[in-house]
Amino acid sequence: MKFRKFLAAGTGAALAFTLAACSGGGAGTTDDSSADATTGGGDAPAVTEGGTIGVAMPTQTSERWIADGDAVKAGLEAAGYDVDLQFANDDIPTQSQQIDNMITSGVSALIIAAIDGTALAQQLQQAADAGIPVISYDRLIRDSENVDFYVTFDNYNVGVQQATSLLVGLGILDADGVTETGETGPFNVELFAGSLDDNNAHFFWAGAIDTLQPFIDAGTIVVPSGQTDIEQAATLRWQQETAQKRMEDLLTSTYTGGDKVQGVLSPYDGLSRGIITALQNAGYSGTTADGFPVVTGQDAEIASVKLIADGVQFSTIFKDTRKLADQAVTVAQAYLAGEEPEANDTETYDNGVKVVPSYLLESDIVYADNIQSLLVDSGYWTAEEVESGQAS
Ligand code: GAL
Repeated sequence: MKFRKFLAAGTGAALAFTLAACSGGGAGTTDDSSADATTGGGDAPAVTEGGTIGVAMPTQTSERWIADGDAVKAGLEAAGYDVDLQFANDDIPTQSQQIDNMITSGVSALIIAAIDGTALAQQLQQAADAGIPVISYDRLIRDSENVDFYVTFDNYNVGVQQATSLLVGLGILDADGVTETGETGPFNVELFAGSLDDNNAHFFWAGAIDTLQPFIDAGTIVVPSGQTDIEQAATLRWQQETAQKRMEDLLTSTYTGGDKVQGVLSPYDGLSRGIITALQNAGYSGTTADGFPVVTGQDAEIASVKLIADGVQFSTIFKDTRKLADQAVTVAQAYLAGEEPEANDTETYDNGVKVVPSYLLESDIVYADNIQSLLVDSGYWTAEEVESGQAS
């Protein structure tokens, strides 16, 4: 992926910003530890060239977060900032510590993709006290009034898209994703959810279940395990191995008398690959065209894109991380220029304390037949990467 090239074109090259030290979300702090407060006190605006922006990402075990981190960093650097980019290995205390350090070192703004969306209130209070604007990246930070802005995708719609692709794969909906074929099944489907401490997991689930429920009610879809609550379906920290283990357990506990799984709602490609491995280890083989279960996904990770091209995974959801990163950069620039960033949603994302102004991006369903147009033609993955299943 050529994130640097893409972002450099998209973010402009303004190198100096006037920082309104006294504005609510302003970046200039009066704290001596601030690296960015360059002029004296009073109400006079501080002026700096760039400054450092702290970017906290959850983990490097998933390639999407590496891509997000790289893309945000490249965009901020192209806009004239230094960047302190940290990954936290999916460990909550590590992420808290990293953010503490960013605040202490006087960053101008924080861009955070939280591991546990409820665990950062203390850090965010410190950020607010220091006048550091906080941008919640992809995952909403909850239970804090000190979240200034949220950049993400339309997460409910992502869930709708996941369920829609499952229905298409099962032949209940036509390829247009709208028209019912009249197929009545019943189809055996199992349901997976993400990590309950990630606000997104609840939105994906809600969108998916709302879409599947009429077909469950009609008996077209059955869930033989009976595990239809998000708590039963959840996957702590979105771990592939955890999903693989749960699928193995479902196969041995439920699918004993010759019954076969025909579809699996999976909300993230890493989980999808664990689920597919469990199915293959239990003797399911071939492609979805031969009857391999229809497994959904999310993030268009390259290993899953290859599985889709090979007919093994049925679908994924493409959330263009380049656009998300670009949006985060735009929002940071607005704050550091003393302006309010533009929101396109001011109703949906209540974090438990306030509704956080948000900018939502749109996502697309990826099937084998649109990998080329969505992912290759847009430069997200090259044809060689799709062929090999590995990022170059
Ligand atoms: C979610 C994110 C998904 C996926 C998942 C696992 O918060 O919205 O796109 O990446 O985490 O990393």
